[in-house]
Amino acid sequence: MKRVYIETFGCQMNVADTERAATRLRAAGYELTDREEEADVVLFNTCSVREKAAQKVFTRIGEVRRARRRPLIGVMGCVAQLEGEALFEEGVRLVVGTRATDRLPALLERIRGGERRAIDLGERREGEVWDVSPAERHSPYVAFVPIIEGCNKFCSYCIVPFSRGREKSRPAREILAEVEQLRALGYQEVHLLGQNVNSYRPRTESERAGLEAFPGATPFARLLRAVAATGMERIKFTTSFPRDFHPDIVAAIDEHENLCDWVHLPVQSGNDRVLRMMRRGYTRADYMARVEAIKRARRRIALTSDIIVGFPGETREEFEDTVSLVRECEFDGLYIFKYSVRPGTRAAALADDVSPEEKRERFLRLEEVQREIQRRIYRGYIGRELKVLVEGRSAKSLVDLTGHSTCNKVVNFAGGPELIGRVVRVRITEAKEHSLRGELVA
Ligand code: SAH
Ligand code: SF4
Ligand code: F3S
Repeated sequence: MKRVYIETFGCQMNVADTERAATRLRAAGYELTDREEEADVVLFNTCSVREKAAQKVFTRIGEVRRARRRPLIGVMGCVAQLEGEALFEEGVRLVVGTRATDRLPALLERIRGGERRAIDLGERREGEVWDVSPAERHSPYVAFVPIIEGCNKFCSYCIVPFSRGREKSRPAREILAEVEQLRALGYQEVHLLGQNVNSYRPRTESERAGLEAFPGATPFARLLRAVAATGMERIKFTTSFPRDFHPDIVAAIDEHENLCDWVHLPVQSGNDRVLRMMRRGYTRADYMARVEAIKRARRRIALTSDIIVGFPGETREEFEDTVSLVRECEFDGLYIFKYSVRPGTRAAALADDVSPEEKRERFLRLEEVQREIQRRIYRGYIGRELKVLVEGRSAKSLVDLTGHSTCNKVVNFAGGPELIGRVVRVRITEAKEHSLRGELVA
């Protein structure tokens, strides 16, 4: 029972946690494989944010159980934390909660020692720290660096506070040391991760150590300046929560070239009553004030957002407010979701009364509005030069390289493999719906 295959669903936090799990497993003598058919242990790192996402793991468990080989099946991540022992009914033998990653090898050991099942839904323990081996990172050029785990916001529709628990910030020194180490290893880009990075708030003097020399209106703004001072080539961060998004973050981006010109600021709705029902803690006007601060930045900062359509009770007029907000904000990118009931949340007590057809209509309508805006924005890049981190070959073409700009656009261009892993200048020549094409600037 030595070969482990891990399949990851959900957000970047799960990707980061898979890297952590793989690090611990390898240290305990396990072998990681990306071939499911040769694995003794199949682990699913799961997401529960919408019903469809949560269902996926059950489909996958069924598929693995029908296969001829009979690996041990384990579930980690958000579904593990929420479903707990109920997963044993599905033929799963190992359940690892969202804060039990470091105990994964010990749990597997128990099963190897003869126990039928093992489960751990406990909290992180003293001394368990985030340290991920470079060998397990999803990319040799871009690294995910969690700065805060959990969420205290309890937006009425959202399962995350239940699956990830309360907010816990990582000590600043640990984060800075990790970024410095990544830089020494040749990483070109880090993504500072959290459900709400603006809530970053180390509790004790020693957890704050390392930030003293850096000014900032909030601990997160100070952390950004401290991370910028490491000299890491490119720094991105997600997700920003609108109410806690301080204009000083924009000031920090203005000051430091390596703080990237991209902010992801999910708005969810453009209507004040719906926002109140969602318990987001801000109004449309509050949100627009943040957007204006972002648009006043020295460099143009690309802005992306998330929207939920068909929240319980959302009327057509209220939905139109979302459409008008999307028009007003001119987002560079927009993730639109149809509302999905999450059991146990406050909104689950409300009737899910917008019909599936109506949700679909609103989804398509908004998509259409966004498509036009995005087309305009993307065309605006033609003729401009972008700094692109080359991440690899384009999946769609043999001659193309692909990467992301500092403003987080996908950029494709022709070039040789020697450029992979480097930051290059690309002049944009063509705008596609979700990507840009260009040519290398010598
Ligand atoms: N912490 C981030 C987002 C986490 S979930 C934030 O606060 O913005 C990512 C996105 O999934 C959310 O922004 C929201 O748009 C969507 N989402 C969350 N719960 C949902 C639900 N019950 N139904 C539909 N979409 C949902
Ligand atoms: Fe969910 Fe709201 Fe927390 Fe984001 S801020 S994870 S939407 S509860
Ligand atoms: Fe999904 Fe959990 Fe992330 S619910 S979006 S994997 S925090």
